[in-house]
Amino acid sequence: MSVEQVPVQRADFDQVMVPNYAPAAFIPVRGQGSRVWDQSGRELVDFSGGIAVNVLGHAHPALVGALTEQANKLWHVSNVFTNEPALRLARKLVDATFADRVFFCNSGAEANEAAFKLARRVAHDLYGTEKYEIIAALNSFHGRTLFTVSVGGQPKYSDGFGPKITGITHVPYNDLEALKAAVSDKTCAVVLEPIQGEGGVLPAELEYLQGARKLCDEHNALLVFDEVQSGMGRSGHLFAYMHYGVTPDILSSAKSIGGGFPMAAMLTTEKLAKHLAVGVHGTTYGGNPLACAVGEAVIDVVNTPEVLAGVNAKHDLFKARLEKIGQQYGVFGQVRGMGLLIGCVLTDAWKGKAKDFFNAAEHEGVMILQAGPDVVRFAPSLVVEDADITEGLDRFERAVAKLTKN
Ligand SMILES: Cc1ncc(COP(=O)(O)O)c(C=O)c1O
Repeated sequence: MSVEQVPVQRADFDQVMVPNYAPAAFIPVRGQGSRVWDQSGRELVDFSGGIAVNVLGHAHPALVGALTEQANKLWHVSNVFTNEPALRLARKLVDATFADRVFFCNSGAEANEAAFKLARRVAHDLYGTEKYEIIAALNSFHGRTLFTVSVGGQPKYSDGFGPKITGITHVPYNDLEALKAAVSDKTCAVVLEPIQGEGGVLPAELEYLQGARKLCDEHNALLVFDEVQSGMGRSGHLFAYMHYGVTPDILSSAKSIGGGFPMAAMLTTEKLAKHLAVGVHGTTYGGNPLACAVGEAVIDVVNTPEVLAGVNAKHDLFKARLEKIGQQYGVFGQVRGMGLLIGCVLTDAWKGKAKDFFNAAEHEGVMILQAGPDVVRFAPSLVVEDADITEGLDRFERAVAKLTKN
């Protein structure tokens, strides 16, 4: 028996949805690989990847297969019981990373919430009530719960909701001296994105992360890497920390880890994990069998030399062409980022106009992203076909040509 489907359109959004988003004028209804079709049958090339989520594009057979198989078996049991997909995925994450223990949840914000709570709990248990300060970076983004907007260094997301979580200091990113000045024996954690994503696709400098690691060790503080956006293959390594060779104590992963199915994980060591004893933290859906079955298929495909090498090769294709477009039309001062998380920094003449590029690209049939007002962002599928890259960037170039002509 199928459910009756009433026709809906974009205008309905403004009548029935809370107005906290302003979605594009069209409604995507179907996706295959790196192509998406809207209600009218118009086809678009997808370089937005659902904001760095659809790590294997749309309707990847391995993911569809894993989800369908699990859907016919067992959907949900809660954490009163464990389940096979969760245990298998946790084992794979432990085998592939620094971590010995995994906590599953449902979004990046939740993974960070768990990470920050764990850091404070460890400090509380080992060093007492005075060690709770968190040092984070200005212009960082860690999610939208009250704790995560408080740690994120962007007042526009944290102001206006009453008292914030206190005990958080923000320092300029990639500024080791500023970090040194801020860290003290009251610091329980330093929280960093190895590549600032929402803040403009800005990779950390190696010395900065190495310095942060050293400072944490000197002050008995934990190093927390938010790899919600940079993780699960997007940087060309399974996690960006592997590129730097700087190992965190706690790592948050979301977005790509579920390939489009909502899921997230906090990874940590056995020594730290024991501070989250029975009942200290939890979430009903965390480690849901459907999500973990998909997550297992994602890591099986992504964590292979072919896919990860492909990310680096595709990065070069994007970068070379975007630099050419940037120079020819005078729009980009720099093309930066790692793997398939790429940011084009607008020149002074185009500063503040990233949304215009988004709109122009959509009109030419290519979905892209912004990272703030000054950076045009690309976060395509890690297995985007080279032909789709060419076609999508042809469309993007036409968009830039029109935009700069007007
Ligand atoms: C680095 C980083 N952390 C956390 C989040 C929050 O993730 P979610 O929206 O799944 O809560 C995001 C989302 O963009 C992110 O980029």
